Amino acid sequence: RVFLPLLLLGVILPGGDNEDGPTSFHLIQISTFVNNTWAQNQGSGWLDDLQIHGWESDSGTAIFLKPWSKGNFSDDEVTELVDLFRAYFIGFTREVQDRVNEFQLEYPFVIQVTAGCELHSGEAIESSLRGALGGLDFVSIQNHSCVPAPDGSSRGQKFCALTTQYQGISDIIERLLSETCPRYLLGVLDAGKAELQRQVKPEAWLSSGPTPGPGRLLLVCHVSGFYPKPVRVMWMRGEQEQPGTQQGDLMPIGEAAGLNCRVKHSSLGDQDIILYWGHPTSIGLILVAIIVPSLILLICLAFGVLRFMGSHRIGHD
Ligand SMILES: *[C@@H]1O[C@H](CO)[C@@H](O)[C@H](O)[C@H]1NC(C)=O
Ligand SMILES: *[C@@H]1O[C@H](CO)[C@@H](O)[C@H](O)[C@H]1NC(C)=O
Ligand SMILES: *[C@@H]1O[C@H](CO)[C@@H](O)[C@H](O)[C@H]1NC(C)=O
Repeated sequence: RVFLPLLLLGVILPGGDNEDGPTSFHLIQISTFVNNTWAQNQGSGWLDDLQIHGWESDSGTAIFLKPWSKGNFSDDEVTELVDLFRAYFIGFTREVQDRVNEFQLEYPFVIQVTAGCELHSGEAIESSLRGALGGLDFVSIQNHSCVPAPDGSSRGQKFCALTTQYQGISDIIERLLSETCPRYLLGVLDAGKAELQRQVKPEAWLSSGPTPGPGRLLLVCHVSGFYPKPVRVMWMRGEQEQPGTQQGDLMPIGEAAGLNCRVKHSSLGDQDIILYWGHPTSIGLILVAIIVPSLILLICLAFGVLRFMGSHRIGHD
């Protein structure tokens, strides 16, 4: 028997999971401690998975990646926050280096912190902070309290005990999480809405991919360049969706005729893109498919991010 795996591929521009744009803001800190004299801090600010701030660690200055990255905050308030983060990074590095033995840390190690707030339905905004060592969570701050991760190590407990000794710093973190972040989030979502809520139509094309094995043909439906992220891509026969859109399923090659790939996206309204396999134009599209990916790649690099939606194969024996 001859089998025909079907693939659906998407290349997307950065954006959230939400059709109405992002709903959260997070700062990410990655601190690398190489030895007792050498450490490096990386900082960045994100709306869902769209980066809008960078951090120049040598000079201790923020990089605003979008014209609207400051939200509705005044230049004075932004300067105050940048000063605070600069002081924080210096203090954090020193504190960690001084407590390597107390926390039984061994060089080299990496500490990651993510802190921010998220808009939930009904206008509620929830703030949180998580700290990880070597990629494993060791502490979180939720709902005004420090919670050690249940990882069996005592680091989280020690850390939470320490925060009670630094009441001034704890109060600042608390204020940033519960007051500053929600106010900033609402302001920045509004300032950036023309970009965050824009609609960019997908490009879609079919190709036959690399042969997965003798007697097999790989049919790929590519979807690219759309915004925002949510998209639905299906293999159809006539008006019928091929059931069980799953990865890795196979379909006899004779059944390929009459297949079409249907793309639904918010930018298209109800005008789905429908591409027919075996249609004369799809032969031309296969040729185009060799040229187009290089263009798409260029476009994506220009936006700084290239991500794959993952692949789905469908069909049945
Ligand atoms: C610390 O690490 C840096 C970067 O790898 C290296 O250049 C430096 O010599 C190291 N210092 C010590 C004291 O090991
Ligand atoms: C947060 O804390 C308040 C009181 O401190 C409590 O009433 C509420 O249930 C808590 N919420 C969660 C999600 O833990
Ligand atoms: C920014 O917008 C938020 C939400 O609309 C508002 O609460 C806040 O007062 C505004 N101004 C500043 C400086 O945060």
